Amino acid sequence: MELNNVILEKEGNIAIVTINRPKALNALNSETLKDIDTVVDALEKDKDVYAVILTGAGDKAFVAGADISEMKDLDEKQGQEFGALGNKVFRRLENLDKPVIAAISGFALGGGCELAMACDIRVASEKAKFGQPEAGLGITPGFGGTQRLARIVGLGKAKELIYTCDIIKADEALRIGLVNKVVPLENLMEEVKAMATKIASNAPVAVKLCKDAINRGMQVDIDRAVEIEAEDFGKCFATEDQKEGMTAFLEKRAKNFQNK
Ligand code: HXC
Repeated sequence: MELNNVILEKEGNIAIVTINRPKALNALNSETLKDIDTVVDALEKDKDVYAVILTGAGDKAFVAGADISEMKDLDEKQGQEFGALGNKVFRRLENLDKPVIAAISGFALGGGCELAMACDIRVASEKAKFGQPEAGLGITPGFGGTQRLARIVGLGKAKELIYTCDIIKADEALRIGLVNKVVPLENLMEEVKAMATKIASNAPVAVKLCKDAINRGMQVDIDRAVEIEAEDFGKCFATEDQKEGMTAFLEKRAKNFQNK
């Protein structure tokens, strides 16, 4: 696998993906988006990965946005193509069959905030900052920000942040529900790894089906949504991990899940 701006590492059943362009505060150019796509391919195929951590190299930034140097001279068609590339990659990440936790040390702006929002869970350091500064650059958010921010924090707050381009600190991001947790910078990776390890200790097939039910259910009305849940719930009973989880409980012993 050839990657230029992204690092993929594994620690046991956890994959750690690092956006690695620290000189440009990990800004997302096309090359980096394609690297993320390649990494998603690898993660999809890897049945030994139960949870994924996505982070940015260095403490200063998670990702400071899409690459402004690359976008500056785009025409309308090229702008649409650039947005479509990011949206395709972010949707694949959002629908990856394992949970993705964003570990956000510093700036998560524009495309960086959008990347974090395409993850399942966001953990921020106390130094993290969030915002959608696009309107100040003469563009709209283009990697799903107009859609995911409203879904996560509600319509009014999303409109306020997008129209004002305000940059908010981690405590405010926590207050409005944009992040799940705020921790001291020096504990960030340790805390995120602990969360990933806890997730990975549960039945991977069940966690995958939980993600599927939540993601698909959010797109449809509640009657259809509970049908989706019932389908995924039913599928669990065709798995070895369901037998193992319930047998281990009744036998009062530790569980040994196999992702089957
Ligand atoms: C390209 C970037 C960048 C970006 C930072 N850099 N952000 N390059 N695209 N989004 C580069 C800087 O040009 C600089 O390069 C180096 O990283 C360090 O950044 P500085 O600005 O010197 O750092 P600092 O003064 O500490 O300021 C940090 C910052 C600022 C507040 C985060 O860099 C900033 O405002 N960045 C842009 C944030 C932004 O507007 N993001 C949204 C982009 S639009 P040199 O070579 O000078 O050292 C977007 C659209 C998404 O994301 C949808 C697209 C379809």
